[in-house]
Amino acid sequence: MKRLDGKICLVTGGGSGIGKATCLRLASEGASVAVTDIDEADAKSVCEEITSHGGTADFWLLDVADADAVPKVFDAVAEKFGQIDVVVNNAGISGANTPTHEISDEDWRKVIDINLNGVFFCTKAAIPHLKKAGGGSIVNLSSIYGLVGAPDLPPYHASKGAVRLMSKTDALVYAKDSIRVNSVHPGFIWTPLVEELAESSEEGGDAFRKALDDRHPIGHVGAPEDIAAGIAYLASDDAKFVTGSELVIDGGYTAR
Ligand code: NAI
Repeated sequence: MKRLDGKICLVTGGGSGIGKATCLRLASEGASVAVTDIDEADAKSVCEEITSHGGTADFWLLDVADADAVPKVFDAVAEKFGQIDVVVNNAGISGANTPTHEISDEDWRKVIDINLNGVFFCTKAAIPHLKKAGGGSIVNLSSIYGLVGAPDLPPYHASKGAVRLMSKTDALVYAKDSIRVNSVHPGFIWTPLVEELAESSEEGGDAFRKALDDRHPIGHVGAPEDIAAGIAYLASDDAKFVTGSELVIDGGYTAR
């Protein structure tokens, strides 16, 4: 008997990075996984990787910032698998990396639309399904940047700080429905999101990576699998008494 046998898990942004590692981990622990992403080819490829290893998965094209599309995809996932037990709100972008007074309204809204409104739309769509299933778990990807400041990525910080508190409020609102809501706070994880930051940095990719490694007391940035392990725990009944909490997985970044 595996820890997530019989659980139906929907992951947003499941086509790459942390989302991909999470889909693979949840499937390896017995879950049926709905892989959703704006990149359909990536979502399909993750889905195929799961099924080729004997797991159960399907994929859907989903932009979490599209308020009309989100409930339709959640309904389609529930129809396909029978119910939804776990939602991982993972989709996110780093967005504009300029001082606040130089960010265009459009660039600010883009980050908020995906990183914050996307979590809202998906939570709103998830709740009726989780209630119907008799309870469940919502895991929201915040960040170390939702806990502490740094002199970069202003809209990203704003979005991730908001996701941290949304998670606590929703934990309180839905505790009576046996729905647990927690946030995860990764340190820097080597994924396409961070690789893009490295490529666009003034100091160059290698120096950027070295500086990032040095900011983590454990000596290096993390891997997507480090975060997937924490998400699988929060998704599972091992965390049945855990709600409204912040799971920090950051190599000691915020311990100072
Ligand atoms: P990534 O860029 O590797 O993957 C993000 C995935 O989300 C991609 O597959 C992309 O196609 C998808 N996506 C982007 N916009 C979307 C939208 N509007 N709707 C649906 N899917 C969309 O990013 P990574 O690094 O795996 O990040 C995943 C989450 O973890 C994000 O919320 C990020 O903010 C958070 N995080 C990442 C950290 C890192 O160092 N990589 C650190 C802390 C938090």
